[in-house]
Amino acid sequence: MDIYKAGKPISEVKRELQLKKVIKLASNENPLGCSPKVKEVLSDLVEHTNLYPDASNHELKGEISKKFNVDMDEIFCGTGSDSLIKVICNTLLNPGDECIMGEVTFSRYMHSTQLMGGKSVIIPMKDNALDIEKMVDSITDKTKIIWFCNPNNPTGTIFTKDQFEKVIDKIPSNVVIIMDEAYIEYVTSKDFPDSLELRKKYPNIVILRTFSKAYGLAGLRCGFGIGDKELVKYFNTVIGPFDVNLFAQRAATAALKDTKFIDEVRKVNIEGKKYICKEFEAMGLKYVPTETNFIMVNIEREDKEVFDSLLRKGVIIRPGSLLGMPKWLRVTIGSMEQNKVFIEELKNCLK
Ligand SMILES: Cc1ncc(COP(=O)(O)O)c(C=O)c1O
Repeated sequence: MDIYKAGKPISEVKRELQLKKVIKLASNENPLGCSPKVKEVLSDLVEHTNLYPDASNHELKGEISKKFNVDMDEIFCGTGSDSLIKVICNTLLNPGDECIMGEVTFSRYMHSTQLMGGKSVIIPMKDNALDIEKMVDSITDKTKIIWFCNPNNPTGTIFTKDQFEKVIDKIPSNVVIIMDEAYIEYVTSKDFPDSLELRKKYPNIVILRTFSKAYGLAGLRCGFGIGDKELVKYFNTVIGPFDVNLFAQRAATAALKDTKFIDEVRKVNIEGKKYICKEFEAMGLKYVPTETNFIMVNIEREDKEVFDSLLRKGVIIRPGSLLGMPKWLRVTIGSMEQNKVFIEELKNCLK
């Protein structure tokens, strides 16, 4: 197994390449930072670092419960949704159990499956999107989990409510359906499935969300899941009691309340997306239309070379070959200033 290769940190690039100014558009972080309300809460907490956080995550679960209209015991919280992917596999998988996932999707599903001796059943993509029909048709007696990343990372694509409703009845009730919705706040399509509603009919749906993207709290590490009470009880047995630290709990609680901030985040992302797509079109580059805060672009040449050239100019992106799409780049939609620097440097590199 390989160690996860994360987007390069700004400090490392500055140090290695002796650069003063570096922008990171590699890990789908929020260029606006976080809500000012969160900042206020955080500054008050520096006096309380000697105390353990609340192991029950009471306040945070209370806010999630209110916002999404679910019971407190249907919620589980963790150190980013990344840790919850692992918790789900730790809880459910025995050696030889099968997990179904897309070929080009979030790599942590495969990693956590392998850690438990499970078998990843990899389904090829269809037009750069998850082939949910094939995924569902691949269920066997050994299938424990089916991983739906919607929108999908790294392709930025979604499957719609109609598409999902066509296949969901074919999923047996003993297969856990994970809806990883890390980027849901960025979705503009009206046809996106309402998984909170679908849960009422299909209690084997477990929804994963994160505070790392639109809420701008990637550095604090906090994510949550919503699922059937009995399943959640098992997950909570596996999650460490203090996995969500004091700062993360309070920040996430405050972040959920500030809906104005999320509106602004969406607005900036839509403007950035429009600008970047227009520029790609002008450059004659193919891209995958995205419902997220990142976009895949086909540069039709060795992506690692372009990645290195951009790095030397102080722009960090993700080379597609690391994500299963060689000759493509994945770039996070940043602030307009960052987007302009990226486009300018990409033009120079491709010349
Ligand atoms: C689809 C998806 N799920 C989950 C995560 C994990 O996010 P975090 O652990 O920061 O909550 C990511 C992060 O990039 C992601 O892209």
